[in-house]
Amino acid sequence: MLILPWNPCTGQTSSAKEGYSYQTGDRNGIGKWYMHREIAHVMGHQGMRWLDRPERDSEENTTKLLDNMDIQIGDTIADIGAGSGYHVFLMADLAKKGLVYAVDIQDEMLAEIQRKKEKRGTTNVRPLKGSEKSVPLPENSVDKLLLVDVYHEFSYPIEMMQSLKKALRPNGKLFLIEYRGEDDRVPIKRLHKMTESQAVKEMQAAGFTLERNMDNLPWQHCMVFMPE
Ligand SMILES: C[S@@+](CC[C@H](N)C(=O)[O-])C[C@H]1O[C@@H](n2cnc3c(N)ncnc32)[C@H](O)[C@@H]1O
Repeated sequence: MLILPWNPCTGQTSSAKEGYSYQTGDRNGIGKWYMHREIAHVMGHQGMRWLDRPERDSEENTTKLLDNMDIQIGDTIADIGAGSGYHVFLMADLAKKGLVYAVDIQDEMLAEIQRKKEKRGTTNVRPLKGSEKSVPLPENSVDKLLLVDVYHEFSYPIEMMQSLKKALRPNGKLFLIEYRGEDDRVPIKRLHKMTESQAVKEMQAAGFTLERNMDNLPWQHCMVFMPE
């Protein structure tokens, strides 16, 4: 992988081949760009209560998201950037004979997932500490990858997607859920949203093809990708 510094002579450009570039931009961004998109700051664990807000299901229709995933009883699923585990336990109840990996980079998030796991007595959830560049998942081990509101804040999207592709089984699916960047009515900061065209461009660069954007959630894209 080639990492290019920001070059004021050539203007701020980036493509998957060129790698990352650097330029100060939005206050919610880290000044690092990938394919003309500025990467957002990671949401701190202090935002945990927002992730678990009671109105979340009505705002985001999580029930519909789970329907979209068509979870089978024996599925192995990995929730990447699992946060406080909002989706983790809902999926674990459906994949009763399977396994849900809950991957995050913040210890506080993983501790919260562990706390919920013990409180509920759930046995098919495995919290895992990831890094900014990779996931600690076995190769070819996962049927479904769920990324909710996290891809836009990967500080190393190229490396993360390479790692995720290795973990996914050849016939597996990646569910990329991002707040709709095309829709000004979605009350989320600009850098924490993505357009479908940007997401497709970046996923194609990572070797994934869009099977379908389910387009049935109130605020978010529900994009289903397959590995090439
Ligand atoms: C906005 S929160 C969303 C949490 C959860 N997906 C949800 O919707 O409730 C994003 C989470 O992704 C995590 N994260 C950011 N970069 C990550 C990476 N490279 N690998 C794993 N987790 C990451 C953050 O620590 C944070 O907990």
